[in-house]
Amino acid sequence: MDNNDRVVSAANIARDDEYADASLRPKRLSEYIGQRNVTDNLKVFIGAAVSRGDALDHVLFYGPPGLGKTTLAGIIANELGVDLRITSGPAIERAGDLAALLTNLNEGDVLFIDEIHRLNRNAEEILYSAMEDYEIDMIVGKGPSARSYRIDLKKFTLIGATTRAGNLSAPLRDRFGIISKFELYTPVELGEIIRRSAALLGTEIDGESLMELAKRSRGTPRVANRLLKRVRDFAQVKGDGHIGMAITDEALSSLAIDKMGLEGLDREILRLIIDKFGGGPVGIDTIAAAIGEERVTIEDVYEPYLMQAGFLHRTKQGRMASRDAWSHLGLTPPERSVQLGFMVDGSEDE
Ligand code: ADE
Repeated sequence: MDNNDRVVSAANIARDDEYADASLRPKRLSEYIGQRNVTDNLKVFIGAAVSRGDALDHVLFYGPPGLGKTTLAGIIANELGVDLRITSGPAIERAGDLAALLTNLNEGDVLFIDEIHRLNRNAEEILYSAMEDYEIDMIVGKGPSARSYRIDLKKFTLIGATTRAGNLSAPLRDRFGIISKFELYTPVELGEIIRRSAALLGTEIDGESLMELAKRSRGTPRVANRLLKRVRDFAQVKGDGHIGMAITDEALSSLAIDKMGLEGLDREILRLIIDKFGGGPVGIDTIAAAIGEERVTIEDVYEPYLMQAGFLHRTKQGRMASRDAWSHLGLTPPERSVQLGFMVDGSEDE
């Protein structure tokens, strides 16, 4: 399997962000499933902004990729009845690119900046006054003839998304009035999302298969929807189009997704910790180098689910595979006393 075939590879995630399946995306808050801590509060803030006829305060979403941050930004714009402009930190090369986007916004519009932690310094500095005072200072020219122009902006809402709030500079983070953390979804919530998506795709799926897909979607709607579509392909080609357990099992094992929803690289990480480091602890940089993935990809894409599933612990000394991880891979965990020296204290190593 090469990198791009992986269901959760960084490349797939980036690609899906670009043209994520618009047809499956909920358009209103009432259709959005899960993340109630986020949406219950947003409902209040949106209602208040609409009744005052004011722009919504700036919003920061953070959490693992694929959990519906872009989708929710679209919903917020819909609920506010304004236009949405979408860009991303790495796409904004120069401060002027951001200035052009900002000056084209209409009153109350939403500007969504994905991966906002990757915004370059000059662009970030423009954002400070744009967010706080709805104005930007542009310097035109160089040296003694350089001149500064102040440009007034319409009152707008910035929605920033990042996989990690800790990577934002304090001045930027402090300018968001609403900061919301996205959590991995429960299997029940993912089941509801898959049911909704199957109905929109016109695919029949039985309850057992639905829950099986939900359990194997690593807490992530983007993965759930992608698996649903792949299983639907199997059902069409190898069956009568109906998704039942036999087809679901066949499709998921063809995709190398195991009973706990782990795929190749998840198992590679656990195997490395167990085979080469006796179960850990081992540092994240060592894991990244041995696996050949970027450290941030392992931290943001793979670890959240491995930890939620109880297979991986972060300790002060490094990453450790849990006893369940050994058993899941068909191995016998070492005697408890051997690992006790590194007992997990729940704290992280950064
Ligand atoms: N598709 C992706 N995320 C979703 C969510 N939270 N609710 C409904 N459909 C979704």
